[in-house]
Amino acid sequence: MNPTTTQTPSPKVRYTEEILASLAEEPPRLPSKYFYDATGSRLFDAICALPEYYLTRTETGILERDAKAMAAAIGPHCELLEYGSGSSTKTTLLLDALVKPARYIPIDVSRAHLHDAAQRIHARYPDLSVEPLCADFAGEIVLPSEAAGTRVAYFPGSTLGNLTDAGARGLLERMTRTLGPGGLLLIGVDLVKPESVLVPAYDDAAGVTAAFNRNLLVHLQSLVDLQVNPTAFEHRAIWNADEHRMEMWLEASSDQVLELAGQRFAIPRGKRILTEFSHKYTPERLLDLAAGFDPVARWSDPQGWFLVQLLRVRG
Ligand SMILES: C[S@@+](CC[C@H](N)C(=O)[O-])C[C@H]1O[C@@H](n2cnc3c(N)ncnc32)[C@H](O)[C@@H]1O
Repeated sequence: MNPTTTQTPSPKVRYTEEILASLAEEPPRLPSKYFYDATGSRLFDAICALPEYYLTRTETGILERDAKAMAAAIGPHCELLEYGSGSSTKTTLLLDALVKPARYIPIDVSRAHLHDAAQRIHARYPDLSVEPLCADFAGEIVLPSEAAGTRVAYFPGSTLGNLTDAGARGLLERMTRTLGPGGLLLIGVDLVKPESVLVPAYDDAAGVTAAFNRNLLVHLQSLVDLQVNPTAFEHRAIWNADEHRMEMWLEASSDQVLELAGQRFAIPRGKRILTEFSHKYTPERLLDLAAGFDPVARWSDPQGWFLVQLLRVRG
């Protein structure tokens, strides 16, 4: 029998295939993970500081008040894995409260930003082993070595909400395997609230979210050679009440043609490309999505706008 060799496609080929398939959908889409090159990560940090973006402020307030209770429920010597760690800013509130954490593994697709954040964490906690992992959590996460303590996944920022329900269920299911029986997940999710609060959070007066949205096209120009004119697209933020989610779109302000790997996509004036959704949850809906976990404890803010939920892998 002849041995067969399988060749893994290069990252650029995989990205191109994913983007071609997304643009071919109706309506056309672009995956939101491509927001995050170095510029996108910087713009996201700027969004977090905006007065309209209540999410970061509210989640930070919960941590400032309750991180000690969270640390007590987690226990000492844990190995903390952070999914979509970004700047690891809120993480310091948790690390300050945790008793002798054994290792911190921040996981993100935005490589340079991840490494800068990991260096800052290492400088602040010199005794903590910090091992950044540049990886896409849409696939299997391969951890560096044996667990250094009870595995605890930290998944703040309501990043779960950027996934479809099927995507969220899949990720939470993969997390149960990564964490193992008894492993913990501390997850922060945004809750359903009035449209008058939600829409400005995704369409700020200073136009930072609009720049973040358009930067997706700029990033794809360099990542996969997408032929596109980013300035010909307007930012739109819409509350989809049926799906309980905020949606971000890029709307063509004149007739446009996008070209990638020899394929052309006509986007006439007024047509939109879906770039992100941010689901808003109820506590019950989160537990339904996290079917492989049991609830341990939860914390919220006085307005009930945001939820930090601790879950334990069942079994
Ligand atoms: C909404 S931001 C949240 C950042 C930070 N955790 C916070 O709470 O402010 C989402 C983060 O997840 C990262 N990210 C998005 N999709 C990802 C994916 N598929 N795999 C790994 N990281 C991803 C982004 O680079 C970004 O840092």
